[in-house]
Parts: sequence; structure tokens; C-alpha cells
Amino acid sequence: MFRFGMFRGRIPSKMNWESVRGMATAGISAVPRRRWRGLIITASVIGGYAGYIYAWRENLFSLQKDRENKPKLLVLGTGWASVALLRHIDTKLYDVQCISPRNYFLMTPLLPSVSVGTVETRTVVEPVRPLVGTNIKFLEAECVDIDPEKKRVVCQGTPSIDGSQTNESQFSQRDVADNIGGSSSRRVHDGARTRPPFELDYDFLVVAVGAENNTFNTPGVDSHAHFLKELPDARRIRAAISDCFESASIPTQTEEERKRLLSFVVVGGGPTGVEFAAELSDMVHEDLSKNFPQLDRSEIRISLVEALDHVLSMYDHKISEYTEKHFDRENISVLNSTFVKEVKQREVVLQKRGSQEKGSLPCGMVVWATGIKPRPFVNSLRKRVGELQSNPRAVVTDTYLRVIGAPSMYAMGDCSSIQMPKVGVANLVPDGTKELGFDEFAALLKDRMHEYPQVRTGHDTSSRLWLSSNCWLKKDLLFPSHKFQLESYAQQVKASFEKADLNGDGKLQISELKVLLDEADKLLRPLPATAQVANQEGKFLAQHLNKLALGNDANDLEPFRYRHLGSLAYVGGDKAVIDFSGTGLFQKFFGLEPINGRGAFYLWRSFYLTEMVTLRTKILLAFDWLRSKLFGRDISRV
Ligand code: NAI
Repeated sequence: MFRFGMFRGRIPSKMNWESVRGMATAGISAVPRRRWRGLIITASVIGGYAGYIYAWRENLFSLQKDRENKPKLLVLGTGWASVALLRHIDTKLYDVQCISPRNYFLMTPLLPSVSVGTVETRTVVEPVRPLVGTNIKFLEAECVDIDPEKKRVVCQGTPSIDGSQTNESQFSQRDVADNIGGSSSRRVHDGARTRPPFELDYDFLVVAVGAENNTFNTPGVDSHAHFLKELPDARRIRAAISDCFESASIPTQTEEERKRLLSFVVVGGGPTGVEFAAELSDMVHEDLSKNFPQLDRSEIRISLVEALDHVLSMYDHKISEYTEKHFDRENISVLNSTFVKEVKQREVVLQKRGSQEKGSLPCGMVVWATGIKPRPFVNSLRKRVGELQSNPRAVVTDTYLRVIGAPSMYAMGDCSSIQMPKVGVANLVPDGTKELGFDEFAALLKDRMHEYPQVRTGHDTSSRLWLSSNCWLKKDLLFPSHKFQLESYAQQVKASFEKADLNGDGKLQISELKVLLDEADKLLRPLPATAQVANQEGKFLAQHLNKLALGNDANDLEPFRYRHLGSLAYVGGDKAVIDFSGTGLFQKFFGLEPINGRGAFYLWRSFYLTEMVTLRTKILLAFDWLRSKLFGRDISRV
């Protein structure tokens, strides 16, 4: 059957039947050729596919083989320390697995901003799988036990995710966000997605499980106060603030009850408490009072309660003073030298230091930010390891982050503490030495002190003698801090020598040297539990383990040394504070003083923008800041 329509558009209008017949004849001889072409294409596709499958299988087998040959490195946690390690470890050298009940990395310093909606939840979250890559196996589970002798861990699924195991009692009344909206937002126990427990063997274990909130056993905190440590905490706080304002707006509220609902108490004047109070004050001034015009602004009260004499007491005193004055201008009442003794559902019980009297502060919401303590898992690990782990505050490691008393186990981040070697006379001077002249003393410092951070020396690190370039040490015991920066290294050595030479005979007797070294030992402080420390530890351990796998001996490698890059905090009203003390060289060369105000705020923002781990979250953060500036914060309780 032949129809013209079939060739429509292909036969030139002037073409005759002869040429059409010619085309048909050529078509007959073209058929086998086309068939051949088809066959060749099909064969190549099938061959290529088979080759691909073969290569894939080979690859898989070699990967499995590789896995069997490589040492098993098991990492517990997905916080600052673990993620830094996982991103720097060489997966060609180790078969790496990570276990954590949280399948995302959280940008913790931005939690106060999340809790008031300046920054959105997803902006501070990096899903861990794409972050660490497919060469690292991740399992969302919780490690509940470690057997250091058998080198084995026991893990189980997280109960709140497993529908069948959900325990209602763990969701207290403060779970405001989950109790809103009637039946459509009820908690659904669907699917019974069970996660059976499992065990894993390791060759090297890295414990980086973080810490939990410290309530100091203060009554009522667990039931009535919010923490600000994890993402659900920030979500709940955001909902609770909104709830307070909506409740205060109900026309039948009494004046007393309205004032209570509009009173917010923050306990703890460390960086967490200060930053949260600052963000809350911004939200109240910029958004809530605008959106609730019927409420009297003067009835809104934010109180920051601090047990010590000043807020931000670990920062330079100029920063504490600036922050307190700034808070005063922003109408945040700072209650220094005051302890919270109890938290009730409608009030907190306060006590001034040195007084027996107790007072009460009615409030609609309490945020508890008084620092951290070890998790029960860490305590049981310490008990398992035994006597050598007697520090109740953390797992103790040596300067290579090896857990003392547990071979093949490392610990880092907030759950651990590095034991610094004490600089005893016997470690320093050869046996039989009775006294040292100045030159001998100076040579000794130059040669040996790099081993002891409390007595670090050398032109390359800093001209300080008794203050290391990190912030472990309490300043000003042997030298006033600013003088350090001006004095030359030689002058400082001389000054130390003269100070230690108690009898003034121009020589240091061993007893005099001992006094000096004991004083230096007393200056040792554990590293603070900050993201900065954890991040550096994670990077260090990855590089250290990589070097070990290449055949290096641990003791020939450099131990961990913390480099403090400064501390910063947001204090509200587009102002921030930055403290450079303890930054060593940096501070010395640039003569950096603590800075505060708007300039510090821009630095604070640039710092966090650069610190965001991926381009995606950098962009999200920039847009969040722009959004909240242009359109205000979203105060709806979703
Ligand atoms: P923190 O330990 O630094 O401060 C807690 C404060 O609460 C202390 O000043 C303490 O005196 C006070 N306190 C304790 N019990 C109290 C009570 N019953 N009543 C009143 N006050 C009481 O804790 P924070 O702020 O949670 O920080 C934990 C760690 O995280 C710190 O190492 C901190 O440096 C770090 N961090 C750093 C940030 C930054 O650099 N921007 C931000 C947030 C945390």
C-alpha cells in the first residue's frame, strides 16, 4: 500500500515516478545494511552494558577486598570534631564507619538565631551522608556500650524515631510545638520502623559524642526549662515565645498574668545565655511589638541570671563591661551574683550570693544555659576503662587524643579532656644538677619547653615565656599580659630568672627552679568546650591517623596543639564582641584589643558565613539574614 501522504514533504514536487522507483530499489538494498547497523548498535550496547556490570562487580569485589584489608576505623558522633575528622581522613587507608543518632551536622553557634527565627532550621543543618561522601559508611544509631578489650561496640536504634519504641513520657509538656493544632498534628505512631540492635568490631575507635546540659540538679529544670543545645530545643523555644505572646494577647488575661507571660528568664551568662538573650531582645523590639500592637512594650521583660560577678566572665573584662552596659540600653536586666535555685512552671526561685533570702521571678518561659556535663554513656565508658579515668568531667586523653588506659581508642570534642604533662624538675634537668646559671637556664627553656605548653618558649611561637600561644593558661600570674607583647623574648627569660632567683645569688638552685615550674603547672587549664577546639582536634586526629597508616610511629609525630583564634559573641542590636586574648602571635603582631559594636558585628557575620560548611548553607544563611532584615522574622507557630 502506497500513499502519497507517507512521502509528504520528502518528495520534491517536480520528482517523477522513475526517480521514486529508483529510491524504492535503493531502499531494498538499504534494508540489510540498516539491519546490520541495528545489529552492531544492539551488540555494542549489550557488550558495553555487560562490560559495565563486570567492571562494577570487579570494583565492588576489590572494594570489599580493600575493606577487608584496611584497618576498621569507627567514629562515634556527627558533631564538630567527628565531621572534621571524617572530612579529612583518607578512606584509601581506613575502612571508615560512623555511628550517630543524628544524621546531620548542626551549626551549633547559630542555634540562638534559629530559636527566634532570624535563621531558618534547614540553614544550620548539613546532611551527613553527602557531607562525608559515599566512601564512609554511616548508620543512624546510638552506641550504648563499648568493650575495649574485644574492640567491639553495641549499638541500638534511636527510640524517638522507632515508632514501636516511642516513649511518650520523654515528651514533656514543654513540647509545645507538637501539641498544637488538634488532631491533624497529633503524634502518629506509624510504620513501626524497628531498628534491631547490632554490634560492630573496630581496630580504632574515635569517641566524639559531645556532652549534655548541666542542670546542677536544680529542681524543676528538667520539667520546666528549655535547653538550647539541639535543633528541637530551638524549635520548641521559637514556638514557646510565640505562645507566650499569643496567650498574653487574649483579652480576658489579668494584668498580672499578662506580665508573667511576657517575662522571659535566661539562666547562665556564658556565651549561650548572652547570645540567646540578645536574639530574643532583637525579636521583641523588631517584630513582636510591631505584630502585637495591643501589648504594652514596657510590660515585656528579659532577665539574664548569672551566678558569677559578670556575664561572659571568661572573656576580657572590657567585653563583660561593654555587654552589661549594652544590655542595660537594650532593656535586658542582668542579675549578676544570683543563683537560680529552682524552676517552677510559672516562676524561678532566685538567691543572691551571700544572702539566705530567696526571691521569685514570675515568667512565661525559662531558657537554661549553664554549661555542660558528661553524658551517661561517657561515664560508663570511663568506668569500663577503670582507675586511669578518674576525671568525673570527661574522658581523659594524652596529647595525641589517645584515651588513657584504652589502647586503640581516641576521644575528642566536648566529651574529652587532654591531660597535659606536668613539667617536673626531674623531667628537665640532668641528674646530679644542683644549680643553673642564666645561660644554662635560657638554653634549657629554648631546647625543652616546646614539650610543655605551660612553659612554651622560642621566637617562632611567641615572645611569651610562661604563657603559651593558646588560652589554656591563666594570664598575668608571672607577667602582666600587655607587657608580654612589648618585651623581647630575652628580657622575659631574664625576668623569669630573676623572679625565680629568690636568694639573689645569680643562680637558680633546684629548689628555686622547682617553685617556678610548679607555678607554671598550676596555670594549666583544660581546653574550653568550644566548636573551635573540637574542629581542630578532628582535623588533627584525621591527619595523625593518616600518618600512622603510612607507617609513622605515633611518638615521632607532633602532638595536638590548640591554636586559639579568638572568641566572639553576638550581643544584640547589630552589635557583637570579639576577644583576641590568647591568640598569641596574632594578638602580638597586630596589637589587637577586644573589639565590640557594629564593626565586630560585621566581622561576626563574615566569620559565620565563611564557617558554614557548604556553599548551599552559606547562600541560605545570607538569604535568611536578608529576609529577616527586609521582611522581619516569621513569628507564626508552625
Ligand atoms: P558556660 O559554662 O560558658 O556558662 C554558664 C554560666 O552559667 C556560667 O557563667 C555560670 O556561672 C552560670 N551558672 C551556672 N549555674 C547557674 C545558676 N544556678 N544560676 C545562674 N547562673 C548559673 O556555658 P555555655 O554558655 O552554655 O557555653 C558552653 C561552652 O560553649 C563554653 O565553653 C562556651 O565558650 C561555648 N560557646 C561558645 C560560643 C561562642 O563562642 N560564641 C557560643 C556558645 C557556646
